[in-house]
Amino acid sequence: MNPHRSEPVATFLPGPVRISAGVKAAFCFPPESHRSDDFYSGFADLQEKLCRLTHSVHAELFSGSGTLSNDVVAAQLSRLNEPGLILSNGEFGDRLISHSHRFGLDALSFRIPWGTAFSLVELDRALHQNPRIRWIWAVHCETSTGILNELDGLIQLANSHHIKLCIDGISSVGSVPADFSQVYLATAVSGKALSAYPGLSVVLSNHDILPDDRLPRYLDLGFYRSENGIPFTISSNLVAAFRQALSELPKVHEQTEWLQSCSGKIRTLFADLEWEVINPKVNSSPAVVNVKVPDGLSSVVLGDELERAGCLVSYKSQYLVSRNWIQTYVTRLTTERDVAFFSDLVRNSVAVLTT
Ligand SMILES: Cc1ncc(COP(=O)(O)O)c(C=O)c1O
Repeated sequence: MNPHRSEPVATFLPGPVRISAGVKAAFCFPPESHRSDDFYSGFADLQEKLCRLTHSVHAELFSGSGTLSNDVVAAQLSRLNEPGLILSNGEFGDRLISHSHRFGLDALSFRIPWGTAFSLVELDRALHQNPRIRWIWAVHCETSTGILNELDGLIQLANSHHIKLCIDGISSVGSVPADFSQVYLATAVSGKALSAYPGLSVVLSNHDILPDDRLPRYLDLGFYRSENGIPFTISSNLVAAFRQALSELPKVHEQTEWLQSCSGKIRTLFADLEWEVINPKVNSSPAVVNVKVPDGLSSVVLGDELERAGCLVSYKSQYLVSRNWIQTYVTRLTTERDVAFFSDLVRNSVAVLTT
């Protein structure tokens, strides 16, 4: 790690994302005790902002990344002692299945190919065939492919079968409407579309939850609730920065429109190059464009070339490398200049690398 490194010219990573001047300033205040009155009121305000954004009644914060919040959900599901169904159409759906194995949950998996969307009719059929299923766990934006799974459809499906729905909203909250008022448990993070620093994860819910001393202490959502959300040390800097980022967040439809406009230009670039975009616009997150780099050109070589020029894209994760994919993720702080820079750079790099 180089403490003197400069900011990239443009970043299209799903995290870390670009941070505004206001959020940086909020982070830089001296650390504050998590037991001070001032901290309590700022923390309560952050919880309220998260609840308003997601139409949830409760928001608990955890010091850690998104994976931690999904473990918290798995821990709660383990208390139900009921069978469930986990949906997967990509890397992060597969990770939910892995979370469930690690907690020994009684869960069936419903897997479809990466880059495709679920048919609600088929899911409905699966639930009729397995009437023992009492909960579903699914990813909202499947970040690995960019497919946006249908939240409203899943809510209706779960309601019609009178079962609980859990949602991994880690890369969707902040980029598209995320009304979790009828969701049992949902997760989000401070980074990604909410444009704060990584390091805080969120579990949203609408029901009463009691502590459970059979669960690992750090993962016991009910314990957090019983301690007004602050059972342990938590970074006041991260909390202040997250709070500031939420106060800067535009209205969700404005945000979605902006993301649509940026990612639309990236789609046009790939269409001009005749590269295969993995996530069709119709069922995709407006934030993500995932493209297969054509045979004969390595996604890693291209990604390295872009990085050398100061433009960061996702290409290093194993699931991207093995498929020769690169991925772009845009946020409210992505600019038209960033997109133009990226487009020129890709065209130039392709010309150089393929001659
Ligand atoms: C949908 C989704 N779920 C879970 C995770 C895991 O989050 P983290 O890497 O912050 O632990 C990610 C990370 O990109 C994600 O996009």
